[in-house]
Amino acid sequence: MTTVDDLARLTAGADMHSTHSGAALGVRALRLVDGPMGVTGGRLDERDIALLTPCATALAATWDDALVREVGGLLGEEAAEYGVDILLGPNLNLTRSPLSGRSFEHFGEDPRLAGALGAAWIEGLQSKGVAACAKHLVCNDSETDRHRLDVRVDGQTLHEVYLAPFEAAARAGVWTMMAAYNKVGGVHCAEHPGLLDEVLRRTWRWDGVVMSDWFGTHSTTASLTAGLDLEMPGPARQLGARAADAVRAGEATRERLEVTAARLAELSRRTAVKADPRRAPRAARELLRRAAADAFVLLKNDRSLLPLPSLTDGGTLAVVGPGAADPVLQGGTFARVSLDPRVRTPLEALRAEAGAGRIRHEQGTEARDRVPPLAPLSPVAADDPTQPGFTVTYHRLAADGTPSAPLFRDVRNTHLVVWFTELPGIGALDELPSEESALVRASCLLTPARTGTYDFRIAGTGSVTLRVDGESVGTGGSRALPADVMGALLRGEVTRVPVELTAGRQVRIEVEMRLGGGRRAHGLSFGGRAPVPDGLLDRAVRAARESDTAVVFAGVTQDSSLESQDRTSLALPADQEELIRRVCEANPRTVVVVNAPYAVDMPWADKAAAVLLTWFAGQEYGPAVADVLLGRSEPGGRLPVTLALRDADHGALSTAPDGDGRLAYPEGLLTGYRHFDRHGIRPRHAFGHGLGYADIRWRSARLSPGTAGDTATVSATLRCHGDRAGKEVVQVYLAPLDAGRETPAGRPEQQLAGFATARLAPGEERCVEVGLDPRAFSEWSERGWAVREGCWEIRIARSSRDVFQRFAVYVDAEGRLLPGPGAAPADGPGRA
Ligand code: BGC
Repeated sequence: MTTVDDLARLTAGADMHSTHSGAALGVRALRLVDGPMGVTGGRLDERDIALLTPCATALAATWDDALVREVGGLLGEEAAEYGVDILLGPNLNLTRSPLSGRSFEHFGEDPRLAGALGAAWIEGLQSKGVAACAKHLVCNDSETDRHRLDVRVDGQTLHEVYLAPFEAAARAGVWTMMAAYNKVGGVHCAEHPGLLDEVLRRTWRWDGVVMSDWFGTHSTTASLTAGLDLEMPGPARQLGARAADAVRAGEATRERLEVTAARLAELSRRTAVKADPRRAPRAARELLRRAAADAFVLLKNDRSLLPLPSLTDGGTLAVVGPGAADPVLQGGTFARVSLDPRVRTPLEALRAEAGAGRIRHEQGTEARDRVPPLAPLSPVAADDPTQPGFTVTYHRLAADGTPSAPLFRDVRNTHLVVWFTELPGIGALDELPSEESALVRASCLLTPARTGTYDFRIAGTGSVTLRVDGESVGTGGSRALPADVMGALLRGEVTRVPVELTAGRQVRIEVEMRLGGGRRAHGLSFGGRAPVPDGLLDRAVRAARESDTAVVFAGVTQDSSLESQDRTSLALPADQEELIRRVCEANPRTVVVVNAPYAVDMPWADKAAAVLLTWFAGQEYGPAVADVLLGRSEPGGRLPVTLALRDADHGALSTAPDGDGRLAYPEGLLTGYRHFDRHGIRPRHAFGHGLGYADIRWRSARLSPGTAGDTATVSATLRCHGDRAGKEVVQVYLAPLDAGRETPAGRPEQQLAGFATARLAPGEERCVEVGLDPRAFSEWSERGWAVREGCWEIRIARSSRDVFQRFAVYVDAEGRLLPGPGAAPADGPGRA
């Protein structure tokens, strides 16, 4: 007989990354690790190497569901091999503001695109027997004060925009979802009956498991009755034993726990058989290289500067900018993946592909990271100089503060060490006294290459001291126990410690943190950089002037995309902007490659001949960018976000909640490009924009009644001229029209309703079809979804601002197309 305690035990995780088993109930202990860019080891340990895929914004830029499904499948194979049951992704929140710290994890700003590609990713992953987790339900579209954040959004916007990608995930059969940290309408998502019960269960009839975000469960009875199945991580704080108490107190029912147990049993069955075998490493790398190139958006290409003809003709190329040799490939979240050290940078790939002799490299300026990694300074472990990195030792502290002999020793080579729930050699963090009772010491030997001021940085969740040759030179860290434990580990205060060092004279560097227990996690971060050599910028400018062509690798810093923190600016670092300007002045044949996963400002764009936006493109970024610059691959991306001319042009920019934690979404349905369209604002580059190299021409378009439940089918006939194969994305936008051809009040002027991607061989002609479902013609109200009967304009387009043809139609209340006036010429809203 299963007891209430047996059932209740299943409602909370066992530890940071696993759940409890209940053999009699058919429930296995499940292993969950963070995603979505890769399969993290769950330990934040640089030794857990995994594949790194393009970020979701990059995947969205491919507009290719088949490709995204393949990438999901690749992750599924790797997760299966690592014994993972649930990979914590995709992130289906939307890029409401480009300042959102985690926007690189979003599939852009449009709910249809995000829903379609998120669903494809889920299908790919789950086809390998690994559960996806659609997160974070819902409106976790920004990070500031995310635990207190209380999003105020109207019901129509909530359903039509922010819930829509989750609904697509539910329809695709996602096996789990994660409730967001924030509140919606005053109630935390993890205990929101309107969302978890009403929407997920009753309206969508979805049968998967809902878990809380990490440390995001705030109550016992309210969470249970709203429909939360699993408190994460374990050990239990609100559910588990407390759930059993709630049943005994008559506040919740045994049946409620049985339902959760049944859902977990179903999840155990679904994930029981995993993919086997995994594809060969080479095939995995090829897929990631193809996906990266397919995501790059060629924003402009004056006089067809790209692909670079000068190299194939024996010309010379100046490769400048910090991102050439040190690109930023991912955000600073818990889902960071450690890369195979053989991964090639853009500079290495260009040298290999184009011939090293043709390339002149100059850094131009330094990357400015919050905590620059020490690895480039070649530290070696203090007690074993044959090993790169640091010796890390763990000690207990006596009452007078004296450390014990080391209780555990390790060698690490990272700038962030995090401990969840326990300290090696010491034990559970929960059980350590809360006053300073343990000490972690990281020590290395460093032989400076230059004489001058080294800029060291320290941060941590205890008291941190930096010592050079035994002498204390700086202190930092913070001992406060923050509400946002996960966030504090990643973005705590950093102290700068300048230290004079002499070239060739070896020093011993020690970073020590004294810490207390009674908490769930600790972290220590340390790094630094060598003195910046003089004349970097001038040398880069000279190299550009003296070469046939220049490529500037500019971009964001390693810490511009953080969990639990939004950005304050969309500008690239000022010194990189200056580098771009100076190089463009020195050489009119300059390509700027922008390594940024969000809509950065490009005030210099008019000066550059070509601009290629490359996002966070995954581990094969280097080879892929060389392929595209040299013309071996097509830049396949189209913008999944709008690029504005000025920050103030964005419909929603600030992500700062008011004093009560409230964040209003006053733009309603007018998110992203809908705001630009409705208010007649010219973007720098419109949603959907992107150029290719191939000469693909649109010949004709047709509208026909839909098949298989669709309202309509739109098709375009494309032809690939010339000798290059290429890619085209056929986009379809719907514009509701009242009598008099006006857009109804509050509605977007147009919105994306469907798309299809075509790859054409030279000389090929192809008809590409896009089906439009009745939902695309529907609006949400308190009564639910209903087709908006009336006139619509169907626009078949290359981007949201580049319409090839329009069809005026009438759609009845059943979502059927009635004969309308037919095709109209493409006379607006103008070409991008
Ligand atoms: C993030 C989630 C993540 C979880 C587990 C949280 O801080 O918001 O996206 O899956 O940590 O690492």
